[in-house]
Amino acid sequence: MSGILEVSGEWLALREPEDAAARSRDLALAAAAMMPDGPIVVHDLGSGTGSMMRWLAPFLPGPQTWILHDWHADLIERAIDGVRPSDRDNAAVSVFARTGNLANLLPTDWAEASLVTASALLDVLTSRETLAIVNACVGARCPALLALSVTGDVRLSPRHELDAEFAAAFNAHQVREAEDRQQLGRHGASIALRLFTEAGWRVRPSTTLWRLDHHRSRLLGEWFVGWVDAAIEQAPGLRAHAKRYRRLRMSQIERGELAAHIAHLDLLAWPHG
Ligand SMILES: C[S@@+](CC[C@H](N)C(=O)[O-])C[C@H]1O[C@@H](n2cnc3c(N)ncnc32)[C@H](O)[C@@H]1O
Repeated sequence: MSGILEVSGEWLALREPEDAAARSRDLALAAAAMMPDGPIVVHDLGSGTGSMMRWLAPFLPGPQTWILHDWHADLIERAIDGVRPSDRDNAAVSVFARTGNLANLLPTDWAEASLVTASALLDVLTSRETLAIVNACVGARCPALLALSVTGDVRLSPRHELDAEFAAAFNAHQVREAEDRQQLGRHGASIALRLFTEAGWRVRPSTTLWRLDHHRSRLLGEWFVGWVDAAIEQAPGLRAHAKRYRRLRMSQIERGELAAHIAHLDLLAWPHG
């Protein structure tokens, strides 16, 4: 799940329909209105298997070329080998892969870019990587649509007295130092927003929600297990309560009685003038 360096294609496939339902369509339409006439080039950062491309391509004019960036070549390959989405005029898009660390981006890499996108990325980046992305956008004067960064706000219903403790431990786990990296976790989107604003750019934020209930019980179950495991790793003292808490919540999921609202922030950033 988001916040862990290794991301599986299966997890990305499971979350794709909910991500598509949650992302801000208003920001997508606003980004589409900024596109120039003629061919456009979109760079999708931390593309994984291409979920953002499949969702956004039909909002944008064509002809479209997508350049997918990720440090896991196997994930990008799934996007390249899979079904190509169509643009707003029903023409298939072209897709290319770029494997590497986003921290090494240069503004000159995006000389031809019309739009930079990302989804479920800012919370797993370090400050160096985020700064590299913002600097590259600003250098290329290229608008950015950065969707679905977690904010750490989670509401389970029905409520339980342990919810807040598990949420706090999970949020701390996201920003722990691991494998020589310190991820920004729930601060990622607000830090990117501040960096763009300080560069003199305009930023339009939109709060977006995962609404998980009995219609998405598999995703809810997997999200919940990952959330609790991370919380316990961060705060081993929670282990004493975890068995009872997990058993109760999993039985509520099985009976279709648990719902979770998981808040995210989408950002559209663009230069003045
Ligand atoms: C949570 S996944 C989201 C994937 C995809 N955007 C989606 O919405 O399905 C984050 C992705 O960012 C990639 N990633 C994270 N940090 C990266 C970095 N510094 N450089 C390149 N890729 C990175 C991961 O490999 C992973 O595929």
